[in-house]
Amino acid sequence: MVIKNKWERKSLIGLEELSEEEINLLLDKAKYFKKLKSLNQKIPESLAGKRIVNLFLEPSTRTRIAFEVAAKGLNADIISIAEKSSSLTKGESLRDTARNIQSLGADAIVLRHSSPGSPLFLSEIVEVPVINAGDGAHEHPSQALLDIFTLREKWGSLKGKKITILGDILFSRVARSNIWGMLKLGAKITLSGPSTLVPKKMEDWGLTVSYNLESAVEDADAIMLLRIQHERQTETHFPSLKEYSKMFGLREGEFELKKNALILHPGPINRGVEIDSKMADSSQSVVLEQVSNGVYVRMAILHFCCNGKV
Ligand code: CP
Repeated sequence: MVIKNKWERKSLIGLEELSEEEINLLLDKAKYFKKLKSLNQKIPESLAGKRIVNLFLEPSTRTRIAFEVAAKGLNADIISIAEKSSSLTKGESLRDTARNIQSLGADAIVLRHSSPGSPLFLSEIVEVPVINAGDGAHEHPSQALLDIFTLREKWGSLKGKKITILGDILFSRVARSNIWGMLKLGAKITLSGPSTLVPKKMEDWGLTVSYNLESAVEDADAIMLLRIQHERQTETHFPSLKEYSKMFGLREGEFELKKNALILHPGPINRGVEIDSKMADSSQSVVLEQVSNGVYVRMAILHFCCNGKV
């Protein structure tokens, strides 16, 4: 547990268990690293001599590279392993893989896995910190932290801000982590998408659910689009992509959004499905800012989880 300004966790599994203070601690450290970079000042080599292993057992562009850039920025060594090039393909278990990685001198393991709960499982097996880089439809804490960081940078605070999360909520670890984090920071959340892709009883979490796209987006201060997570769906949840796009795709000029409403997307974007190119590339879109902020947020995560010295 963290008491105010002190990080006392070994691993980062999800935002469900983090307090508001812990979230702000991570965001403040990310802000500090970003500030140093913007001033062209040297970022402390707080992880010099540490060895981080990126164990990515699902595809990734942004998260894997951002963890690599973040680790190198703090002067740690980082090694990235993909499933296809590992001995997992020869039948080795995740448990044995992780214990071998630890024996090879890893100081932390960053894990992306299709099974919800796998980072927690690993964190109970190995002694080194485990950082969840996305586990099935459960959580994607570093993504939510960078989303929240981006909004906090724009607004100063999320308190009272209306944020609409739109799309495939049911299979989205990004949505789940953002809901935990944003509610803790005082945002008002609306979920929208096809009823088959919004989990039941979400109102019990203290948020609003709307199946009407217009009412879900018209007074939002920020709209976060989610792609359809085909890789986690075993049955069809809507008639066709064309119909999905017509009913729930965000297209320029279709609805009157707030003038300063921000458009977020964790990526990868499926242009023409959940969002059209004009909206994705508009001046309201902060998608690429999210990606660059992801480096500073991951620096903060690695710094705290690996006992970085500053
Ligand atoms: N947002 C996200 O997790 O992107 P990647 O799958 O490319 O890491």
